Amino acid sequence: MSTLITNIGELVTNTREGDSAASTGFEAQSDAAVVIDDGFIAWTGQTGKAPAADERVDAAGRVVLPGFVDSHAHLVFAGERGAEFAARMAGIPYSAGGIRSTVLATREATDAELGRNLRLLAAEMLAQGITTFECKSGYGLTVADEARSVVLAAEVTPEVTYLGAHVVPPEFASDPAGYVDLACGPMLEACAPHAKWVDVFCERGAFDADQARAILAAGRAAGLQPRVHANQLGQGPGVRVAVEAGAASADHCTYLSDDDVDALAGSGTVATLLPGVEFSTRQPYPDARRLFDAGVTVAIATDCNPGSCFTSSMPFCIALAVRDMRMTTQEAVWAATAGGARALRRDDVGHLGVGARADIVMLNAPSHAYLAYRPGVPQVASVWLGGRLGWQA
Ligand code: NIG
Ligand code: FE
Repeated sequence: MSTLITNIGELVTNTREGDSAASTGFEAQSDAAVVIDDGFIAWTGQTGKAPAADERVDAAGRVVLPGFVDSHAHLVFAGERGAEFAARMAGIPYSAGGIRSTVLATREATDAELGRNLRLLAAEMLAQGITTFECKSGYGLTVADEARSVVLAAEVTPEVTYLGAHVVPPEFASDPAGYVDLACGPMLEACAPHAKWVDVFCERGAFDADQARAILAAGRAAGLQPRVHANQLGQGPGVRVAVEAGAASADHCTYLSDDDVDALAGSGTVATLLPGVEFSTRQPYPDARRLFDAGVTVAIATDCNPGSCFTSSMPFCIALAVRDMRMTTQEAVWAATAGGARALRRDDVGHLGVGARADIVMLNAPSHAYLAYRPGVPQVASVWLGGRLGWQA
């Protein structure tokens, strides 16, 4: 079964060589068409030269992009923290401690309740153009609750992350080393068969550099690949630990020293920026220009979670990254597609080159710039997942 999408006003393919948006990874063609065959991109080019296909969709001058790749999300949880957000807006700063209230609610929830919430959030993401997303555990923090979290996550995505080292749970408050042993031992053993990634929150109030190294090393020994929550609440060792471990991504990067930027630039570690977190915690936005100028590969992700950022909207994050992190519209779209794919070490998504998975978003807009130009406006018209229409406005 083949599909021709024709009369595309702007087709974003991201097929140009280059390791970041700043080094011209973004690419788009005007008056274009794309052919999907058997779930993959089979052809792109000028509308007038498009080959025939079984089915034809007229884009009527609208923009078509690769589906967004959200490389950082925490979707397995119960409860909500709206009052914490309201208090924050009234002046109470965000701290890692809030995570524990979601842990209590998550432990009390049934599998069915967790699964329902997870599916609702995944559906919200799809409706906003996210076609690949990562999903972390980290609100269970017992062997059984972390294990069921990764099992539930694996039902909705292949990009499952074991985050047993999110915070030290209350019952281990006087024995953090004992908790690290658990997270590196029986908890990891129960989770590793269902996960691809291991993550650690390396931050004051969570885990220090040595604890983070131990968690990542144990995860790697169990066959998981590292990624790190780094430098979210202040300067610290997170980014350096991530680079040292060969992590796919260092996420947040809100407070970076020059050494951190240099370390990222000389590494295969993507800097994943989470603009919704700065918005929702009223922290300063990191300057993406500083990272691009140094040659760092940058991704944008939602970090959808009940505490620091409860948005599932990649278009909103793109708008913030353009307005407040000083990205160009091309850089932000690249970071939310190809950048996210790099942060997940995937080469089949994030672009629309021949052979890519046909994960495609069409907007009710003539160009990618409208994602930032019309913030807060639902513009997603259609989403194709592996060549099949997965969502339509
Ligand atoms: O990425 N920083 C750690 N974890 C989440 C926040 C989780 C929460 O507040 O519940 C984050 O921001
Ligand atoms: Fe996070």
